[in-house]
Amino acid sequence: MLVEKNVPLQPFNTFGIAAKAHALVRLRSQEDVRAWVEQSGEGGQLVLGGGSNIVLTGDVKVPVLKVEIMGRSLVRETPKAWIVEAGAGENWHDFVAWTLQQGYPGLENMALIPGTVGASPVQNIGAYGVELQDRFDSLDAVDLRNGAEFRLDAAQCGFGYRDSVFKHAAAESAGAASQGLGLAGRALIVRVRFSLPKEWKPVLGYADLEKKRAESGLAEPTAQQIFDWVCAVRRAKLPDPRLIGNVGSFFKNPTVSAEQCEDIIARDPKIVHYRMDDGSVKLAAGWLIDACGWKGKSIGNAAVYERQALVLVNRGSSSANAADCATGGEVMTLAKAIQTSVYERFGILLEPEPVVV
Ligand code: EPU
Repeated sequence: MLVEKNVPLQPFNTFGIAAKAHALVRLRSQEDVRAWVEQSGEGGQLVLGGGSNIVLTGDVKVPVLKVEIMGRSLVRETPKAWIVEAGAGENWHDFVAWTLQQGYPGLENMALIPGTVGASPVQNIGAYGVELQDRFDSLDAVDLRNGAEFRLDAAQCGFGYRDSVFKHAAAESAGAASQGLGLAGRALIVRVRFSLPKEWKPVLGYADLEKKRAESGLAEPTAQQIFDWVCAVRRAKLPDPRLIGNVGSFFKNPTVSAEQCEDIIARDPKIVHYRMDDGSVKLAAGWLIDACGWKGKSIGNAAVYERQALVLVNRGSSSANAADCATGGEVMTLAKAIQTSVYERFGILLEPEPVVV
């Protein structure tokens, strides 16, 4: 276990926000985690994966735990699936690429999502018609209060749209889609296992992917082809966090009742919406923000991305000059101004996707 003091966190958050950790603890093994729990008090901590879903609004006074537990392997085979395991510190996209190289398809629609394997269940990452919960087997975590290791299956993780037990505190768990188990700040994920289908079928429902398939003329694309298309679509639409700081979608796509949606459609017939199986309707938050004229607008160095209004960016994240860099305060001021204008026009309160610290 390596403990560093007064560490700049800019390289460890994809928004590229400058803030410091009073202490950064690198956890490279389960033994490191156990040793940390033994020596730490009750003061709390911040668990950091790839830093791709966090907005830092100031220096972090509690210890920052950087999970660097590695490893990936096939752990089991069933007649229907390959069960593949990865350490929480593995880079998500590299892991997806590796599974395909090994001949285990199923994660290709989630290619190029920034972050680590350990962070992937926290917000039940998803893209182009596949969510983590569709391919999830189980995970191992450590209870940060007593060092005990435990295993959770999908039901115990309480997955929802960009949601899980790991995003809810114990006190609010009754309302979570969980089984009364709020684990925010209490559990550290060390390993995740995925169930990758042997009878694989491509998921091509999304317009962007269907368009790629039509252009290619391929009736039955391989998982690797879909992986390549997803990478191409994301590169065209979403900013590369290594060049322009961002955390992907800044808000969740809101869900409204069918009646609410009819009201909005009557006023804005072009609104992008998707009818869900339970009768509710999901609206495209990017469209709502775009309709309010936010694309390309900025507050300080925080801006709304020109090509996708749902993505907020740090315009100065690659600059050597600290003054060009957005602060967490600027990002949140911009986010609040967007929330207000979408609320005033559509009566919908957008909910931020990343964790604000
Ligand atoms: N749209 C606009 N203007 C914009 C942005 C979007 O009109 O500025 C419209 C698009 O034309 C499209 C619709 O809104 O008709 C939806 O846009 P898009 O296909 O880009 O997807 P999204 O709903 O904005 C979601 C996820 C992404 C994921 C994509 C593809 C959320 C919050 N975001 O975005 O996930 O990659 O679908 O599945 O659910 C992330 O969570 O960080 C993320 C990037």
